[in-house]
Amino acid sequence: MLNNIVQEGLEAVEKQLRDIVSSDVDVLQDAGLHIIQSGGKRLRPQLGILAYLAAGGQDIQRVIPMSAAIEMVHTATLVHDDINDHSTTRRGQITVHARWGRTFALLAGDYLFTKVYEMMAPYPSEYNVIMATATTKLVEGETLQAAAAKAGDMDRETYKTIISRKTASLFEAAARMGAMLADADEDTIEALASYAYNLGLTFQIVDDILDIIGDPETLGKPVGTDIAQNRGVMAAQNGGLAVKEAVAEIEDDPIARMMANLRESGAVEIARMQAEETAVRARTALANLPSSPARTEMETLIEMVLDRQN
Ligand code: IPE
Ligand code: IPE
Ligand code: MG
Ligand code: MG
Repeated sequence: MLNNIVQEGLEAVEKQLRDIVSSDVDVLQDAGLHIIQSGGKRLRPQLGILAYLAAGGQDIQRVIPMSAAIEMVHTATLVHDDINDHSTTRRGQITVHARWGRTFALLAGDYLFTKVYEMMAPYPSEYNVIMATATTKLVEGETLQAAAAKAGDMDRETYKTIISRKTASLFEAAARMGAMLADADEDTIEALASYAYNLGLTFQIVDDILDIIGDPETLGKPVGTDIAQNRGVMAAQNGGLAVKEAVAEIEDDPIARMMANLRESGAVEIARMQAEETAVRARTALANLPSSPARTEMETLIEMVLDRQN
């Protein structure tokens, strides 16, 4: 029953994402549809829908444009992130910049971002402010990451700030708005927001672990990217590893060697413990809510995020 409702909601999100990408400028249309139709887990819209249901919402339609808008922000940032990270695959497909070049990828990302205004237009101003704040945080997180990597001073505190802004803020916004749209009370809104925020932290730590031990085929994107760029959970564990210098000393496939060294250093296990800790916070936040099929599903999501291979 719950699955049917969530499924129906996600299909409506999918339709909205496809329909809104409509331009007579071919490259915007083609590149926009390329990234949207490449798939993706659609975890963020799922959070918006589940938070709405867990908070007692009855009319799933109310939450669809917001959930689609959250996914659109995410999608736009992926297009730009892949330029910055020099990644050539995303969601198992060629990245927008690898196929259309950097200029059109920047513009396609901008195009997807601007569509968010249109998607959020039906909602009152406080929702638009939440969306704007989360998006600003995301950009700040990506920028802090690039700055810390460049300076080689990625410590644990900096890492926490980065993942909180670049990933957890958008997760939190999805659940917060979902709960608000269900007219939930303050405690319920904060519980769901805290759940999603901590799920977002867990999600990003696991993503950074997968960058070391994951399979690029299963992930649909490259691995080793974080090492090559002196960042991520491993750089944080090692108090800002001088990865670049270390890489320079190793001549045959330096990234692969660094990955092997890191796998043996115990850093993955430490990161894993941190992910378990943030997952506990997510579970604790949920415990404040009355039990419901949506809450159960959100509990399952924590385990899925911890165990995910893609
Ligand atoms: C990728 O997010 C970016 C990160 C925050 C790690 P997802 O792993 O949710 O990407 P898709 O949407 O499923 O492709
Ligand atoms: C996540 O960072 C991107 C955003 C939150 C915008 P990553 O660079 O770690 O994501 P992947 O690994 O490319 O998906
Ligand atoms: Mg990246
Ligand atoms: Mg990553």
